[in-house]
Amino acid sequence: MSNENIYILAIESSCDDTSAAVLCNNNVLSNVVSTQKIHEEYGGVVPELASRAHQQNIVPVVHQALAKANIDKKLVSAIAFTRGPGLMGSLLVGTSFAKSLALGLKIPLIEVNHMQAHILAHFIADEENCAPKFPFLAMTISGGHTQIVLVRDYFDMEILGETLDDAVGEAFDKSAKLMGLPYPGGPLIDKYAKLGNPKAFQFPRPKVAGLNFSFSGLKTSILYFLQKETKKDAEFVSKHLNDLCASIQHCIIGILMDKLEKAVVQTGISQIAIGGGVSANSGIRHTLKQKETTDQWSTYIPKFEYCTDNAAMIGIVGYLKYKNADFSTQDIGVKARYAIESAVKTK
Ligand code: KG4
Ligand code: ZN
Repeated sequence: MSNENIYILAIESSCDDTSAAVLCNNNVLSNVVSTQKIHEEYGGVVPELASRAHQQNIVPVVHQALAKANIDKKLVSAIAFTRGPGLMGSLLVGTSFAKSLALGLKIPLIEVNHMQAHILAHFIADEENCAPKFPFLAMTISGGHTQIVLVRDYFDMEILGETLDDAVGEAFDKSAKLMGLPYPGGPLIDKYAKLGNPKAFQFPRPKVAGLNFSFSGLKTSILYFLQKETKKDAEFVSKHLNDLCASIQHCIIGILMDKLEKAVVQTGISQIAIGGGVSANSGIRHTLKQKETTDQWSTYIPKFEYCTDNAAMIGIVGYLKYKNADFSTQDIGVKARYAIESAVKTK
């Protein structure tokens, strides 16, 4: 491999964000994200609407990413795209676009696993980013996934535990919906939680073996609790919104930290990296940072724009795979379900 710069154009379209980024080696030159607002009125992502919006957004978003990076597309070394996991229709838009562009420009195509990208986002060169050293534990917490992954190397990962039902982001969003808050409710719970008492209300923690998670019971217990209280006082939610948010957030953080602590004991690894949209949560960030002093953990939280869905994280995986000459062929298909372990083997 020569010392020439590698330019990766990356495309992410797994859920409701259409994103394109340009990287020069491990540096991000541009990272454009177009978040689809249409889903707000439905209280959750509508797959059919998501793929239509990707179709409309993809060309302008890619144009903008190239313009911001100030490079001609002829300079691009390879196209990286999200192959999965995600919504089938959404993935198809980004994948088809990436394949056509790679074919047109006669450059390599690189498929990327979205969950692997959330983890490797830590390796984007940025003054606000600090890369963990191998081996480390990664906890990916998003609207679609909740996993604890043992990361031995860039392409050597093993899932130690994951959710058996709802993802943690869904737990936030569904709880918010029960309180009448708009989608996505996670950031709003975070905002109101800052003003409330986390011990005001208690919700039961699920009993799940090993390092797996479960969040569907929490949603049900919140539903029954709110039904009971609003029968007595119709204004219960609005009167206690801050305390409710603080208590729900406290419970969710407790569930996550319990398993993380268990994983640290089980593996003897106390280098912890988090990723995914929920790592934007201020309570989780604060609790993790505290662990640095109380338990001597080293914790890593990527820059905010690399936590939520973005193409820069797809680009860093593209760059690392490019260096291994790990390219895809034009007959590659999308994978709505795509386990991290099946994605990490390179040549
Ligand atoms: O990674 P992401 O952008 O998309 C997926 O791959 O799912 O994660 C989105 C999820 C949503 O459920 C959203 O409510 C949640 O991340 N989220 C938060 C916060 N910011 C985003 N949850 C709690 N607190 C936040 N500050
Ligand atoms: Zn994600």
